[in-house]
Amino acid sequence: MHLSVSHVSKIYEPVTVLDDLSFVISGSERVGLVGANGSGKSTLLRIISGEVEPDSGVVAASGGVEVGYLPQDPPEPGDATIEDLIYQAAGELRELERRLRHLETDMTTARGAAFDRVMDEYSERLEQFERRGGYDIDYRIDVVCAGLHITHIPRDRQFKTLSGGEKARVLLATLLLTSPDILLLDEPTNHLDFPSITWLEQYLAAYSGIMLVVSHDRRFLNQTVTRIIEIDEHSHRLLEYPGNYDHYAQAKARERAQWEIDFAEQQDEITELRKAIRQARAGVDRKAPAPRDPDKSIQEAHKARADKTASKSIRSLEERLRRIEAAPIPKPPLMMKINPVLDANDLKSNEIVRFESVSKAFDDDVVLNDLSFTLRSGQRVVLVGPNGAG
Ligand SMILES: Nc1ncnc2c1ncn2[C@@H]1O[C@H](COP(=O)(O)OP(=O)(O)O)[C@@H](O)[C@H]1O
Ligand SMILES: [Mg+2]
Repeated sequence: MHLSVSHVSKIYEPVTVLDDLSFVISGSERVGLVGANGSGKSTLLRIISGEVEPDSGVVAASGGVEVGYLPQDPPEPGDATIEDLIYQAAGELRELERRLRHLETDMTTARGAAFDRVMDEYSERLEQFERRGGYDIDYRIDVVCAGLHITHIPRDRQFKTLSGGEKARVLLATLLLTSPDILLLDEPTNHLDFPSITWLEQYLAAYSGIMLVVSHDRRFLNQTVTRIIEIDEHSHRLLEYPGNYDHYAQAKARERAQWEIDFAEQQDEITELRKAIRQARAGVDRKAPAPRDPDKSIQEAHKARADKTASKSIRSLEERLRRIEAAPIPKPPLMMKINPVLDANDLKSNEIVRFESVSKAFDDDVVLNDLSFTLRSGQRVVLVGPNGAG
């Protein structure tokens, strides 16, 4: 099994978002796709999934493979319920299963020729169902729904009423149920709580297909991938790094350190060249002393010859400087640092927020039950809890 991306480019005027990207993923390799915000990661996944056309280049996968794509921003599937989405994912098998249940009911009432017809269709459909792993799909639905902790959510709940984390888990579950050969995941852990992330890591470890995942989650990448590809935000081209995220980070740190050394050395060379050119010019321009004796013509001849040699070396220095300045090593950008000056003493009160017996319910579903707490100035607080906790 393989996925190959050849010379793919995409322009969103006026920006060339992806510039001539090529890579191949084969076997059951898991690859992490990284890059700054807006560098084109989601665009690349959309192109591979077929949702967006590249301006040039080709995406190819081995014949007949099923591609599963989890978009970064989940589509809003109208009024669909969880059951509807799972049903869609399990596809025709569920349809077949419903038909079987229907026929089973018919069997109890049908008589004579009608009964024979029902029995014929039943055995035919049952054979289909078994052959296509219909029993397995039920098992898989249970495993995936339990793993992603969505069994407790009523299946008739509309998708749009779920919390962000619940939506993420339902979409992921429906994607995994289709058992795709190639998984394209766009920031899958963004809305997941810790247990769901751990479950996903384990699921992916046992998954036998190709995976390409966009993530900023260093720990998740370290657990799941064996190669990192990066879309460079400046060149819009692809960079490849073997290993997990830590290996990538080390390689980037080495590249950055080398860049700083190369830049500093080139700056020194530029300074040296300019100085040498200045000094050499000064030597040529220096006025020859006014000739005082009859030998003056000999002195002038010496001077002229020396000037000629000096001009030649000035020209070669200037040429070297010109070449460097035509394509200099760019200055490594400084990392942005934020040093907020916030003085807690300026606040009128030490109490910033006070909750007193706060409760909230959606119908019978109590989400917050009698919460009391105070946030005081200078505190740093993290709010944790499983998806759907409120
Ligand atoms: N449909 C579109 N029309 C115009 N510009 C787009 C469209 N989709 C993405 N872009 C632009 O392409 C760039 C890459 O976007 P995206 O692939 O979403 O980045 P990433 O996922 O790496 O954060 C961004 O500058 C974005 O604004
Ligand atoms: Mg994105």
